[in-house]
Amino acid sequence: MAQINSHYLQLSQNYLFSEVARRIAAFQAANPDSKIIKMSIGDVTRPLCPAAVEALHKAADDQSRPETFHGYGPEQGYAFLAEKIRDFDYAPRGVKLEADEIFISDGAKSDLGNIGDIFATDCRVAVTDPVYPVYVDTNVMLGRSITYLPCTEANDFVPQFPAEPVDLIYLCYPNNPTGTTLNRTQLQQWVDYARQTGAVILFDSAYECFITEADVPHSIYELEGAKECAIEFRSYSKTAGFTGLRCGYTVVPHALRGTDEQGNTVELNQLWRRRQTTKFNGASYPIQRAAEAIYTPEGQAQVRETVDYYLNNARLLREGIEAAGLTCRGGVNAPYVWVKTPEGLGSWEFFDLLLQRANVACTPGVGFGPSGEGYVRLTAFNTLEATLEAMQRIMNYEL
Ligand code: MLT
Repeated sequence: MAQINSHYLQLSQNYLFSEVARRIAAFQAANPDSKIIKMSIGDVTRPLCPAAVEALHKAADDQSRPETFHGYGPEQGYAFLAEKIRDFDYAPRGVKLEADEIFISDGAKSDLGNIGDIFATDCRVAVTDPVYPVYVDTNVMLGRSITYLPCTEANDFVPQFPAEPVDLIYLCYPNNPTGTTLNRTQLQQWVDYARQTGAVILFDSAYECFITEADVPHSIYELEGAKECAIEFRSYSKTAGFTGLRCGYTVVPHALRGTDEQGNTVELNQLWRRRQTTKFNGASYPIQRAAEAIYTPEGQAQVRETVDYYLNNARLLREGIEAAGLTCRGGVNAPYVWVKTPEGLGSWEFFDLLLQRANVACTPGVGFGPSGEGYVRLTAFNTLEATLEAMQRIMNYEL
């Protein structure tokens, strides 16, 4: 028999969101009449914006004619989309990128999970805690050791530098799951720290479109020196409702380098290109056309409207939670609200209570890491009606 990668046995049996879905399904099966409002996984509810739908139709027509048909595309994405990203997502923020520093993919989750391939297996990894489980699980799969940087009320959810040196640091801002942010000064300190210690920051900015406050950077490259120490991941899932279409991108600047075993410096851009061209055949042509359509004036306006819709839900969540006598963070620059459980209740206990009494499903904070114990996460990705109804139920049931 073939020997397995035993590191998989170190993982919890189910991926967090699969486990939450399993428990919700079991509750629904036992209580068929209950109308559960799902505020657990951050999956969007609004349909694709009309500009993207139109582009999808047109791309399907392209695929029906020999002269416009597209087979395999460039593994790192079509230039028509990379150039839009460069000109719309970065140039207006004073960030100059080359189109070949941008790698289009089937979503940030895949890239965040795969990026570990280009680093030595004995790299030491730091993650903020609580954390998006993909960073931890994918490093555990490779047998890497993980340092948790607690983000709690005690430090106002601002992580401190690791006590011991690390090689890779995952930062996600606006943060999933807490919805908190780092301001410009705080993020600059992380960039300076990474440059001093030679660490690489893996910066997940999947939620940047929800930023409403001026002092919160949208891209890590807005900070001095970040191109020499950071890789940035972005997603169209939450911006443009692409959770079902799958498209995102990763920026690996040419200025970012690592060392090989002999101490020679190597461009990470080159390694990621090598990895992607070997293991990935590119996001599909119609999907990239749909993503491109987001950058038209109509597309931009439609996306903004959807983001504002979810931000309004986030505001209602915060207000509802406070009116119910609970405290929370987030929801101002992020679609997530991080709710402190009532005195003495653990995350999973409060998950059960909310589900049983209010038929509202959340994500237990401890599923995101040890510092998440005593919290649950609610998502604003729902309809306005469901958000209002969920808050009403939570207030009524006096949790
Ligand atoms: C979440 O709920 O944290 C996200 O939807 C997960 C993801 O983006 O993969």
